[in-house]
Amino acid sequence: MKSHVVVTGGSGFLGSHFVRLLLKQGSCSVTNVDSLTYAGDPRRLADVADGKDYEFVRLDIASEDLVRQLLSERRPEAVVHFAAESHVTRSETDPDLFYRTNVKGTRVLLEAALAAGVRRFIHVSTDEVYGSILEGSFKESDKQEGTGSAASPYSKSKALADDLALSYAGKLEVVVVRPTNAFGPWQYPEKVFPRWVTRALQSQPILVWGDGLYVRQWLHAEDFAWAVDLVLREGVTGEAYNVGPVHEPEITNLAVARWLTGALGLDNGAIRMTAYDRPDHDRRYAVDASKIRELGWRSGDVWSQFEESLAWYRNNPNWWRSLIAEAESIYADAGAAGKDTAV
Ligand SMILES: NC(=O)c1ccc[n+]([C@@H]2O[C@H](COP(=O)([O-])OP(=O)(O)OC[C@H]3O[C@@H](n4cnc5c(N)ncnc54)[C@H](O)[C@@H]3O)[C@@H](O)[C@H]2O)c1
Repeated sequence: MKSHVVVTGGSGFLGSHFVRLLLKQGSCSVTNVDSLTYAGDPRRLADVADGKDYEFVRLDIASEDLVRQLLSERRPEAVVHFAAESHVTRSETDPDLFYRTNVKGTRVLLEAALAAGVRRFIHVSTDEVYGSILEGSFKESDKQEGTGSAASPYSKSKALADDLALSYAGKLEVVVVRPTNAFGPWQYPEKVFPRWVTRALQSQPILVWGDGLYVRQWLHAEDFAWAVDLVLREGVTGEAYNVGPVHEPEITNLAVARWLTGALGLDNGAIRMTAYDRPDHDRRYAVDASKIRELGWRSGDVWSQFEESLAWYRNNPNWWRSLIAEAESIYADAGAAGKDTAV
């Protein structure tokens, strides 16, 4: 008989890539538990949703009784927990929602998993739990207890959820993954990569905050799905795994914006450096992913993945066009006090 996996947040960006991977492998059935916030969208899984191994349940992960009931009925072998409020800018104005979903929601799931006899629990955390690092990279053991150096309400809530998940490792097979900055098809256009791509495709300026010299490790969603699958099967209980590529040279936000203008044949005037910058904008995130590489994980070529992702947004305007107005409504960066400068 096939094993059964409950995936939370499977209608979101990263969760949907993981659900698709599981269903394509064909070795388990999947229940996707998602409350469909602004960020959740069943269209992401339209290509696989009709299969007999897939079930969708609309549920808020912070609803204690309903989550407990669901897990005790389905009795999955594993829970893979992606669901979260995931956007830093939104956390600046509504931190309570982030603590409710990300911390309380994680606790509710862990308790319900324990009560239902679930064997394995994979918690999706983030590289942001470490905070910024100007040189070198963080190892998994560098995570400080509590919020540590995490800067935004988003990263603080994720840091607490990460601790919480690991604190259950004596009772459940808990394994944590800490991915870096993700991109790829189906990402909500509030996030920087699809925002810049969709703005450029609409002949709007690419808005680069501050001096643009912020550094991130750019992780393709399908590479991450592979990493989660590896950890689901082979990750060691009670351990965390950083998941991120190494870029040589490192990639600044401005370099991504310049690549985009090049790819679309625009001149550098399409890039606008904004007077606006994120409060406490973390300068550089860097994790050492050698632990997951020891399990055999590898990332693809980031520049080809950027190209392929750009092509996907170009070919799927019907999806993102309907989301643009809501996604843009959260930003105060365009044309702030006329101080923006062209590159
Ligand atoms: N995208 C990234 O760059 C990135 C990087 C590191 C870590 N992460 C982590 O990966 C996970 C997935 O991120 P994403 O980018 O796919 O996020 P997303 O915002 O695209 O998707 C989140 C999903 O969770 C669902 N959800 C939100 N609140 C819920 C609730 N209370 N109950 C049930 N479902 C709820 C939403 O409907 C949505 O489908 C998150 O835990 C995030 O913190 C993301």
